[in-house]
Amino acid sequence: MAQKPNWILICAAAVICLIIGILIGRYGISNDKEDVSLPKAKMSATLMEEISASNIGEYLKYLSSIPNLAGTPQDLEVASWVRDRFIEGGLDEVQLVPYKVLLSYPDMSNPNQVSLLDSSGKVNFTTSGRQTPLFSSEEFSPLVQPNFNAYSANGTVEGELVYANYGRKQDFEYLKSIGIDIRGRIVIARYGAIFRGNIVKSAEDGGALGVILFSDPKDFAPEGRKSVYPNTTRLPGMAVQSGSVLLGYGDPLTPLYPALEGAYRLPEAEAPLPKIPVQPIGYDEAEILLRSISTENPAPEDWQGGLNATYFLGSKFIQRKWSVRLQVRMTHKLATAYNTIGILYGREEPDRYVLIGNHMDSWTLGGIDPASGTSVLVEMARTFGNIKEKSGWRPRRTLMFCGWGAEEYGMIGSYEWAEEHAKVLIQRAVAYINVDSAMEGNYTLKSQTVPSLYSAIREAAKMVPNPNPAEVKAGRKTVFDTWLWANPDLNDPTQPRVGNLGSGSDYTVFSHVLGVPSVDLYYDYQEKAGSYPLYHTLYETYHVVANLMDPGFQFHLAVARLMTELTLDLSESMVLPFDVVSYAHFLERDLDKIESRYTNLAANNGATFEYFRKAVAHFRNSTEYFTDIILPRLDTSNPLAVRKINDQLMQLERGLVDPHGLPGRPEFNHIVFAPSSVDKYSSDTFAGLVDLFKTVGNQTEVEQPNTWRQIKQHLSAISFLIGAAADSLREGF
Ligand SMILES: *[C@@H]1O[C@H](CO)[C@@H](O)[C@H](O)[C@H]1NC(C)=O
Ligand SMILES: *[C@@H]1O[C@H](CO)[C@@H](O)[C@H](O)[C@H]1NC(C)=O
Ligand SMILES: *[C@@H]1O[C@H](CO)[C@@H](O)[C@H](O)[C@H]1NC(C)=O
Ligand SMILES: *[C@@H]1O[C@H](CO)[C@@H](O)[C@H](O)[C@H]1NC(C)=O
Ligand SMILES: *[C@@H]1O[C@H](CO)[C@@H](O)[C@H](O)[C@H]1NC(C)=O
Ligand SMILES: *[C@@H]1O[C@H](CO)[C@@H](O)[C@H](O)[C@H]1NC(C)=O
Ligand SMILES: *[C@@H]1O[C@H](CO)[C@@H](O)[C@H](O)[C@H]1NC(C)=O
Ligand SMILES: [Zn+2]
Repeated sequence: MAQKPNWILICAAAVICLIIGILIGRYGISNDKEDVSLPKAKMSATLMEEISASNIGEYLKYLSSIPNLAGTPQDLEVASWVRDRFIEGGLDEVQLVPYKVLLSYPDMSNPNQVSLLDSSGKVNFTTSGRQTPLFSSEEFSPLVQPNFNAYSANGTVEGELVYANYGRKQDFEYLKSIGIDIRGRIVIARYGAIFRGNIVKSAEDGGALGVILFSDPKDFAPEGRKSVYPNTTRLPGMAVQSGSVLLGYGDPLTPLYPALEGAYRLPEAEAPLPKIPVQPIGYDEAEILLRSISTENPAPEDWQGGLNATYFLGSKFIQRKWSVRLQVRMTHKLATAYNTIGILYGREEPDRYVLIGNHMDSWTLGGIDPASGTSVLVEMARTFGNIKEKSGWRPRRTLMFCGWGAEEYGMIGSYEWAEEHAKVLIQRAVAYINVDSAMEGNYTLKSQTVPSLYSAIREAAKMVPNPNPAEVKAGRKTVFDTWLWANPDLNDPTQPRVGNLGSGSDYTVFSHVLGVPSVDLYYDYQEKAGSYPLYHTLYETYHVVANLMDPGFQFHLAVARLMTELTLDLSESMVLPFDVVSYAHFLERDLDKIESRYTNLAANNGATFEYFRKAVAHFRNSTEYFTDIILPRLDTSNPLAVRKINDQLMQLERGLVDPHGLPGRPEFNHIVFAPSSVDKYSSDTFAGLVDLFKTVGNQTEVEQPNTWRQIKQHLSAISFLIGAAADSLREGF
């Protein structure tokens, strides 16, 4: 008897539990459903609210207080700080990843010098070798190294001086054309038009003994010596732009492979390093050198700069038998560079990665480059991590926050890591979003990416409120509005212009080697100069960012929000937001340009664009068919169908990668986009082909047939690869 009521109670309890369970289950499931079906708009609002400008400012204050040259103890300190922020921010897995790589350092106590010697060899003038602290306490740090260019050769050279303008190919060609020989002489050139390593390479190829680099006030202090740091963002007279002159990519001793323990390392003498010494100096010092050059060879009008001197070409000095001496004391050594990688695993597709990266190393204080970007990266990681901690929400796909080491030396941390994980990344990486300096100015957004991401970056920019109150007043409410107003696309003036990726930062290996669709973005200045004036100098301080460039960190906030919107779109959208038809339009326009330039030349030598044209048409048809017919039919409730579509989209860019590399440039695999071979910073489309056309145009009749063979071979490879890439969007063959 005693058992009966118990059974009833138990049964009743079980039924009640079941009902509650079903309700909880229902509630839970419907909640999940809600998260899956309307997550983007909801999560966008939550994320936008969470990002904090004052956090960004605090991070920047810390990051810009320490000179953290790659491979130094301070570099490890900063990489560890980023690791701690990632852990604190709630990421699932955080690692410090070391690589032992070849780095290059000046002699801390014995600065490199450039001297003028009189006819008896007595020193008439010598550069100071250091930048004078001007304002902020951190400028006085004993850890600030003397002026140098990384990977300059070690040594002392002496000779006459030749002025080579911006050191571009055409500048050296001009000197040659008027009979000024740089052989056995020292070249002085200005920064600001191309990557400094390309200047050094041209000088070395021309037989120069050494190179002196300076920043001309015409480009970097246009309001004169009175209007400079710390009162403005302009360049003071003894300020010097540091920077690498390495033309290669990644660790110079382990090309194409990761610098793992036990990896084969080239003997240093075989590494592709400059063979001549290079030294950067301030414009006050350059003025003294330029004023001492003889007046017999005047420089052209557009070679004149902003110094109080008429610029002459050289090579003689005004005073008979004077010379210039370049004393460079460098040590190249193996040192450890650290990446900090923080992972937030995805909810439904943990094996699909959206990577977001920025480098951590800097030349000195690095308040802009890279601290402005690192602060944004750290705040983004905190934002996503924090929301996961609070609500349990994670994006559909995995996020990887990547702090790169030794970028300044040649994108070393990102290259070694991408080389180590290439197989996995090729299969799983959806996209790579790069920031370096988050803001170089407050004029407008600037972005470079591949055509399939044009619409994603533009849509993200529409979501971000304009950080500039004057622009809002003028009716431009979003980052997109100012961008469109300031920089419309020439092909379609209803859209803001997006550029192509060169190789100025860590996106290089992802885009140009692995074929991972990549984006680079930042707020830019208005002037046409080659960089913001204080770039890579001692004066990239907290003061310049917090007081002069971005009080309140509103532009930083806008960049963080933009990157977050883009990250959300790429990691949360059920179907990847890749506009593949836009890629087809891009290829068509570029082929038009190539055809209009080279069709006759090609035809006269038995080469044809016919199959290239057919491949592009096939590419267009495939992308349109995919977008118009296949995508609308997608059953989004079928995870396998969704995964299939996304894999096809992801593979399109990979299809444009040739594992054998470009002609003569095995280190670059993407057939459409590559860094220019005359300026590492800028981008060429179909560089393999265009470079060969330029080469053949300058060759003798004996040399030409071999180049034509290469042209035909590469044309055939390009045509094949474009067609094959298009096939990734098709069901079968
Ligand atoms: C350098 O040379 C100039 C021109 O000959 C001369 O006026 C000046 O005194 C010299 N300076 C030194 C430190 O020798
Ligand atoms: C910078 O501003 C301060 C204070 O306004 C002024 O005293 C100083 O002369 C300025 N410096 C220059 C180089 O103009
Ligand atoms: C420029 O140099 C000349 C001498 O060559 C000198 O008289 C003049 O004062 C200098 N101007 C400035 C602004 O330094
Ligand atoms: C650099 O060259 C100087 C001679 O010019 C030599 O004494 C010194 O040992 C060299 N340093 C290194 C690190 O090779
Ligand atoms: C933009 O930067 C310039 C200095 O480069 C400054 O004068 C101006 O006030 C800034 N504008 C805004 C909206 O912060
Ligand atoms: C475009 O692709 C579709 C689907 O593969 C195919 O049926 C059609 O014939 C193609 N059109 C052209 C012009 O190649
Ligand atoms: C190569 O040819 C181009 C024209 O095709 C010309 O502008 C350039 O100066 C030439 N370069 C050399 C090194 O001869
Ligand atoms: Zn940078």
